[in-house]
Amino acid sequence: MHNFRKVTDDLFWVGANDHRLALFENIHPLYHGVSYNAYVLLDEKTVLFDTADWAVGRQFIENIQAVLAGRPLDYLVINHVEPDHAASIEEILLRWPKVKIITSPKAVILLHQFGFPIDAKQVEEVREGDTKCFGKHTIAFVAAPMVHWPEAMVSFDTTNGVLFSADAFGSFRALDGKLFADEFDFDGEWLDDARRYYTNIVGKYGPQVQALLNKASNIVGLDNIKYICPLHGPVWRKDLGYIIDKYVHWATYEPEEKGVMIVYASMYGNTETAAEVLASKLADRGVTNTRLYDVSSTHVSYLISDLFKYSHLVLASVTYNLGIFPPMHNFLTDMKALNLQKRTVALVENGSWAPRSGALMREELEKLKNMDILDDGVTMASSLQEQNLADMDALADAIAASVLK
Ligand code: FEO
Repeated sequence: MHNFRKVTDDLFWVGANDHRLALFENIHPLYHGVSYNAYVLLDEKTVLFDTADWAVGRQFIENIQAVLAGRPLDYLVINHVEPDHAASIEEILLRWPKVKIITSPKAVILLHQFGFPIDAKQVEEVREGDTKCFGKHTIAFVAAPMVHWPEAMVSFDTTNGVLFSADAFGSFRALDGKLFADEFDFDGEWLDDARRYYTNIVGKYGPQVQALLNKASNIVGLDNIKYICPLHGPVWRKDLGYIIDKYVHWATYEPEEKGVMIVYASMYGNTETAAEVLASKLADRGVTNTRLYDVSSTHVSYLISDLFKYSHLVLASVTYNLGIFPPMHNFLTDMKALNLQKRTVALVENGSWAPRSGALMREELEKLKNMDILDDGVTMASSLQEQNLADMDALADAIAASVLK
């Protein structure tokens, strides 16, 4: 049965939700599902903006058919070719073989690489600044290279201010009947999923996202954007400044909040205890916006997400095979891969005969840009002892001074 929603008078969401996918991109856990968004515009010509993952292909096709109500599909605009959106293109071509495809030149190359039987005669390549009129609506195409794939573009409806933003402004989490961000408690219920999506999927490409935001401001004009229609998550029609402000923070790697994230790697609970003691000492000093995570039991996508949120990070790690505990090393590797920067970091190391994890974590952190690594730190042998407390107090003083300044 079809299940679409109206976005504007003549624009319809024809996407679908997937609650069965366990790992997005086969790496990031999903506990609340994900939506694959696509949109149909009913103008003098009919236009489909992007397709959907094959997992929801049947629902997606039913939705398009219901919205078209017997009309042919004239155009398919492909803003992004990653298979979670492009997988159903072949089904579209089979059902509407006369459809014209509008996309970027790089997308055409990728479509062939993925094996879609695209006939060159049915493709209209568009470049930055090109426009296409479908009747009442004129769409402008804006390149969005490396947000987060090279072929990506966004499409802006100059007639009614709808921005089809591809993966930008997307979010994990299924929509479950609702569509618009103002139909949810976005800040309370969704923001963490939106941040986890952005930071892990797009986070590496902050400069490219900044470039896109600048284009949105300079070419389109932020005030002219009335709707943001991403490929995942809710559509924005109110308070667009809220989500744009979040994107400005994330794309520039500026923390959203002053706060301390303590991530510990502990084999038998002793490093965990040290992390807890530090958290208590921070609270004693008035620093209560703190989060503690066990690196072994927290998926790294959550750690990365919170790291984009908070200003300060404490890494407390046992020494393992004379190196960094592997899950902690993985976290540090992901930080580098995702271009994380501009954080203040403190280190706590543990080791029963050769504690080296502090020096090794510092080496990894020094590979990141604009990181401030505090000189104060704690080295302990097996477990936190009375003789370590002076160092722990000094570390808590240094962190508190930095957070509260
Ligand atoms: Fe949601 Fe880059 O695909």
